[in-house]
Amino acid sequence: MLIALGVTGGIGAYKAVEVCRGLQKHGHDVVAVMTRSAARFVGPVTFEAITRRPVITSQWKPGINTRLRAERSDEASTEPWRSRGDIEHIAIADGIALLLVAPCTANVIGKFANGIADDFLTSLYLATRAPVLLAPAMNSNMLAHEAVQRNLQVLAARGVGFVEPGEGYLACGWIGKGRLAEPPEIVSAAVRALAPADSLLRGRRVLVTAGPTYEDIDPVRYIGNRSSGRMGFALAAEARRRGARVTLVAGPTRLAPPAADEIVRVRSAAEMHAAVLGGAEGADVVIMAAAVADYTPADPASHKVSKQDGPLTLTLERTPDILAELGRARPRRASGSPILVGFAAETADVIPRAREKRTRKGLDLIVANDVSRADAGFDVGTNVVTVIGDERQREVPLQSKERVAAAILDEVEDLLRARAAAPARA
Ligand code: C5P
Repeated sequence: MLIALGVTGGIGAYKAVEVCRGLQKHGHDVVAVMTRSAARFVGPVTFEAITRRPVITSQWKPGINTRLRAERSDEASTEPWRSRGDIEHIAIADGIALLLVAPCTANVIGKFANGIADDFLTSLYLATRAPVLLAPAMNSNMLAHEAVQRNLQVLAARGVGFVEPGEGYLACGWIGKGRLAEPPEIVSAAVRALAPADSLLRGRRVLVTAGPTYEDIDPVRYIGNRSSGRMGFALAAEARRRGARVTLVAGPTRLAPPAADEIVRVRSAAEMHAAVLGGAEGADVVIMAAAVADYTPADPASHKVSKQDGPLTLTLERTPDILAELGRARPRRASGSPILVGFAAETADVIPRAREKRTRKGLDLIVANDVSRADAGFDVGTNVVTVIGDERQREVPLQSKERVAAAILDEVEDLLRARAAAPARA
């Protein structure tokens, strides 16, 4: 989605560069809008290089937009605001999914609150219908001033969101509240603000596991599996996009995990067990997409096992079944139990086995996955699954794991909706 990142003239302006990168990591496109004084703190060229878009610094100047348009005329037709020589704030205002201003000075807060539109950013605020999120940053006395507080209240009453400034050393040498929030916090708030307003996952706690586990045989060898973590990562990213607070428990993967509110890296089934049981407390949804080892060496060697002439026998013992344990714990939990979603990776009798597993483990949903197909399951970008619930079964045809993740979360949202309608059964 396209986000307008307003940068105003505070010392924290340099942090906006990191905010911009964070938004891009979430797959968003950013157009930077700088006030005149912001450009004295950070050069517009910095944002232009990062966003790969013209930076808007003035309401009037044709600026570099026109030149870039000439170079990339193929893109111009899809982006009306870029296709004009002069900058059209109304066109941008229609095209953005969010107006984020970080840092936001007392001056700009005052203008927004009072409808003053004397530059591009302040005009954009009035012209857009997109949600608005401000990360104020200023000296602590300024922040505490009645005038600023009143303006903040006016904006809050209008539905504007805020990323609270933190306490700490301020550029002016004082210690107090007013320092721009840290970039990851601003990015998280922006991602949440972009979540579809009607998503039932908004504000919920979702725990997702991903990847394989490695069970050590000795210090250099292990028993692992082919899981890449892609499916779990896609679920974590999609849950976050819908506004959930996501804890991702990830086994050893080569793939970098997506941004999450908390990432716990684990290696073995035992470590995953501990992380999930800890994290499931207070979770609204637990999705176990990880391929957890069912067996682990009973007695891992502390030194490398030397080869010998004859065969080697390894004794394996069962690992704890994490999901089954969560399923068993449900009736005893006073605080309401999370929705439990498991995966059933099968190579034969996929649906009957998945159904049996769902019942045996006490799950709400099970995602049946035929891993014998080349285009589904382990270590590929696509998947085809069947999501099985108590009363329904949904076939999710072959598509990217990102879209499969969206389909699975749609089912989870349906369950949340049903629970809300019949709380006694939850
Ligand atoms: O019984 P099976 O291993 O096929 O069940 C798969 C589901 O159970 C997956 O969701 C997996 O993450 C979970 N699982 C678990 N603990 C284990 C093994 C599997 O939670 N020890």
